[in-house]
Amino acid sequence: MSFKKFLASASIVGLAVAANNSTLTTATPSVDSACSFSDFTATASSQVQSVAACSTAVGSIYIYGDSFGTVELTGVEQIYGDLHINNVTQASAINAPTLQLVSGELEVNGNTILSNLNLAQLTTVGSLNLIALPALEQTGLTAGITSADEIIISDTGLNSLAGINVYKLKVFNVNNNDDIETIDSGLQEVTDTIDISHNAEKVDVTLDQLTSANNIYLQSINSFSAPNLTVANGSISLSSSSNEKFELAELTSIGKSLTIDNNDELEELDFPKLTSIGGALEISENENLKSFDGFSELQTIGGSVNMNGTFDNGTFDSLSRVSGGFTLKTDGELSCEAFNKLNSNGDVRGDKFQCEDKVTTSSSSSRKSNSGSSTDNSADETGSTTGGSGSSSSGGSSSSTRSSEGTSNVGKLASVIAAFAAVGVALF
Ligand SMILES: *[C@@H]1O[C@H](CO)[C@@H](O)[C@H](O)[C@H]1NC(C)=O
Ligand SMILES: *[C@@H]1O[C@H](CO)[C@@H](O)[C@H](O)[C@H]1NC(C)=O
Ligand SMILES: *[C@@H]1O[C@H](CO)[C@@H](O)[C@H](O)[C@H]1NC(C)=O
Ligand SMILES: *[C@@H]1O[C@H](CO)[C@@H](O)[C@H](O)[C@H]1NC(C)=O
Ligand SMILES: *[C@@H]1O[C@H](CO)[C@@H](O)[C@H](O)[C@H]1NC(C)=O
Ligand SMILES: *[C@@H]1O[C@H](CO)[C@@H](O)[C@H](O)[C@H]1NC(C)=O
Ligand SMILES: *[C@@H]1O[C@H](CO)[C@@H](O)[C@H](O)[C@H]1NC(C)=O
Repeated sequence: MSFKKFLASASIVGLAVAANNSTLTTATPSVDSACSFSDFTATASSQVQSVAACSTAVGSIYIYGDSFGTVELTGVEQIYGDLHINNVTQASAINAPTLQLVSGELEVNGNTILSNLNLAQLTTVGSLNLIALPALEQTGLTAGITSADEIIISDTGLNSLAGINVYKLKVFNVNNNDDIETIDSGLQEVTDTIDISHNAEKVDVTLDQLTSANNIYLQSINSFSAPNLTVANGSISLSSSSNEKFELAELTSIGKSLTIDNNDELEELDFPKLTSIGGALEISENENLKSFDGFSELQTIGGSVNMNGTFDNGTFDSLSRVSGGFTLKTDGELSCEAFNKLNSNGDVRGDKFQCEDKVTTSSSSSRKSNSGSSTDNSADETGSTTGGSGSSSSGGSSSSTRSSEGTSNVGKLASVIAAFAAVGVALF
């Protein structure tokens, strides 16, 4: 099996535009027809040799199979297309010391004994995918990558990300690398997703130059530093991690949700400049988190609020609008008083308000009904929440939590429970 198809003129318009001033934007090299193909597949060393003879290759190269001890690509400098080296299960080395550029995807995947990857001159790549390489301890990126769209490092034996020196990316995904204990990157902007999960048990993540991001998913990490991050257009989550503190000192807005859950050692949250969360706020199952002070400027939450834990302290001093429902359960010293007030002010717009504290023997939960005329803001209801907005026809149940400002707590609670029960029948 050799060159499958020859293309007279290699058209490489629309190549991946690597982010940090890539050389790739308009490149259309003309190459010898032997070095231009749509797909080139090699399962033996002799076939790899014929492609390695091309200093510039245009087309995608697939190398796989168990006939290789070493995959020898010395000679090839630029590949306008993909390079996939997969399932070369008997290969301990991949040698591509002259390779500088892969415009598409460079995938090295499923090579179980690969321990020596030589990518000494590689600087520019569309997507670098190092996946399922348990014996690989070093990236082999001597010059270092300075231009890429996506970096995906998954399930490898790597102990560092040395040589990944990019500033702007779409995707930075580092997962399931048991020996990576530190991730310290100069990334400035990641426009799609940062996903760092399940690496070494105590991985410290430092992204001190990061200013702008979209989604940030963190799982099983030990610390996270992003002191320059000002905006996250997507969601942020921190889960199952051992951070004692989660601080984003400059962050002003989160486009979608913020989720902080199952972090057993977490004691402190600090989001001093955060003013808006576009989606939901969830803070749950963080055993040692006694306080959710730390959101002093937070004004709006576009989704619902869902929190539980042993909270002693916690306020949202600036919060004036929650577009979804609100659920807070604490078995610490924190009182529901302030949150009941938030609800009775009309700041919680969603269908559901529930706050349970230590002194509330039964839950002061409510399903709000719009069928009555006592609510003053039903026109503002966004309709973005699920449930029974306007769907209740149970005539007598329209007494809403909001009308009971002056009544005693007992009376209030009773009316809330009554409303809940009556609407509940209609809803479920
Ligand atoms: C790329 O580099 C050139 C010159 O160094 C600079 O003028 C230009 O603004 C850069 N473009 C981007 C997108 O960074
Ligand atoms: C990539 O971006 C960094 C930081 O903005 C800059 O220092 C570096 O010169 C850029 N590289 C290229 C090749 O433009
Ligand atoms: C590697 O081989 C396995 C079967 O042994 C196959 O399922 C998998 O798709 C192959 N991976 C790649 C990347 O070709
Ligand atoms: C924030 O970014 C600036 C410029 O990129 C850098 O000089 C500074 O060290 C960063 N701040 C921190 C705390 O790392
Ligand atoms: C975030 O959104 C703003 C406004 O739409 C945009 O200018 C910025 O580039 C986005 N940042 C990222 C990292 O997606
Ligand atoms: C806390 O909230 C989470 C997420 O909503 C939920 O899965 C969990 O069951 C709750 N735990 C308690 C004790 O209410
Ligand atoms: C809770 O707040 C009180 C005063 O409002 C303060 O004395 C106490 O130290 C706080 N506890 C925590 C754990 O922040």
